[in-house]
Amino acid sequence: MDIPEPLRFLITAGPTREPIDPVRFISNRSSGKMGYALASAAAAAGHSVVLVSGPVAIPVPVDPNIRLVGVETTREMYAAVEARLGEVDVAIMAAAVADWRPVSVRPHKVKKSQQGDWVLHLRKTEDILGSAREPMGFHGLLVGFAAETENLEAYARDKMQRKRCDLMVANDVSQPGIGFDADENEVMVLQADGGIERLPRAAKTVVARELVRIIEGLSRQRRRTQAS
Ligand code: PMT
Repeated sequence: MDIPEPLRFLITAGPTREPIDPVRFISNRSSGKMGYALASAAAAAGHSVVLVSGPVAIPVPVDPNIRLVGVETTREMYAAVEARLGEVDVAIMAAAVADWRPVSVRPHKVKKSQQGDWVLHLRKTEDILGSAREPMGFHGLLVGFAAETENLEAYARDKMQRKRCDLMVANDVSQPGIGFDADENEVMVLQADGGIERLPRAAKTVVARELVRIIEGLSRQRRRTQAS
């Protein structure tokens, strides 16, 4: 039997939050379930995991192979990833990073009595996945997620190429019961060499196990190519 070599994983999970004032923020519906399931599946297969997580309401998997790094904002997630990418073989970006943040954060709670309509000026946040190769200098196996509502394969393939990923896991987040804050997912796994594998709708724990199996296979294939 082919026993997989232990790999070092970094997995991002959950949403990030961008404050507007001390009590309000911009975020999204990510529950962290997909990223946490991946962390559990990788750890159960004997790999070590750094789990960089935004604020979520689900329990942290209890496993000695999992180290949690809790963050709140996109800047914090970027810094946590950048500091640790050099120590891992595989990076999976399953987090739903807030794409915009308010240009300025109000220092005090904005009172309804002082504010009528409120127009927020938003600016793009850092692209963590898109920075993994350059400027972060990551040479390991890079796995992105693509949350799409149309043209799933074409948009995901474009994202994979632009962000220089080895694998892109595409989920159609317009489908009820899968994607954001659901217990199940159904994904298309695109490989940079053109390969494609469809994982049917199943519990996120099951999808996560399959993804870890695919990543182990790709990593073994890489090591063989590098050794020959
Ligand atoms: O957390 P759950 O409720 O279980 O839901 C799971 C999920 C739907 C969040 C997950 O399966 C998923 O699709 N995660 C990616 C969500 C997303 O933000 O997709 P995107 O297509 O906008 O981003 C593409 C990739 O770039 C992702 O790997 C994302 O982590 C990364 N990204 C995006 C923006 C940004 N500023 N920095 C990033 O690193």
